[in-house]
Amino acid sequence: MSLRIENVSVHYGPRAVLSGLHLDVAEHEILAVTGPSGCGKSTLLRALAGLLPVSSGRILSSDVPVRSASAERALVFQDDGLLPWRSVRRNVELPLAIRRVPRARRRAEAESWLTQVGLTGYEDHLPRELSGGMRQRVQLARTLAGSPRVILADEPFGALDAQTRTAMQRLLVEVWGRRPSTVVFVTHDVDEALYLADRVAVLTRDGRLAKIVESSRPRTAGPAVEAERTEVLDGLVAA
Ligand SMILES: Nc1ncnc2c1ncn2[C@@H]1O[C@H](COP(=O)(O)OP(=O)(O)O)[C@@H](O)[C@H]1O
Ligand SMILES: [Mg+2]
Repeated sequence: MSLRIENVSVHYGPRAVLSGLHLDVAEHEILAVTGPSGCGKSTLLRALAGLLPVSSGRILSSDVPVRSASAERALVFQDDGLLPWRSVRRNVELPLAIRRVPRARRRAEAESWLTQVGLTGYEDHLPRELSGGMRQRVQLARTLAGSPRVILADEPFGALDAQTRTAMQRLLVEVWGRRPSTVVFVTHDVDEALYLADRVAVLTRDGRLAKIVESSRPRTAGPAVEAERTEVLDGLVAA
């Protein structure tokens, strides 16, 4: 599925958070969004997910206007989107239950995803019994279990230590390689952006598009191209 953000503005009361934003995301593209705190990154993801109406402009998903949330577009929340009363296992099973996957297969698939995010043994824990980083990994497992066509992820690796972060980035790349989806993710980490994404959109403080930087070597090992790092950082400084 492609996404089109067409001249989108979002206001909270009198306050404009996003202004005249225009962005196209191609089917199976990975786009990173970065920008100063409070510039509207989470707002943009919520609008893309269909959880927040735009004040003007349109959001299209494969040419169809987005009007409400859909299981096809999964949102990984910045601050915990898990259901607090459901166990880790039952949180990960949720998208499978919605698709009416039979219980035994649901359980096996959830366990497999939990293994892949390094949470074997925590299946029966409640979210509040886990650290923030572990909860992020449960969210990632739940999202991947649902095989959505669009993944919208709000700083999905922000609470992870460096080692786990690298492992989760690789997992995302590996799953995406096997079953490509369209991904828009927010990050403050320029190297993460240039490693995972095909393009990096830099937003200004007042929610406009400052620039788009293409990554010449997305999803390949090795450090980011220095000129591209500098370009993103320059965009952030000017934002
Ligand atoms: N529901 C809301 N009502 C009013 N203001 C909000 C709401 N959500 C976010 N904001 C404000 O909108 C601005 C952008 O928020 P957000 O999209 O969360 O930014 P970011 O994710 O880039 O840090 C911030 O100033 C924030 O305080
Ligand atoms: Mg945010």
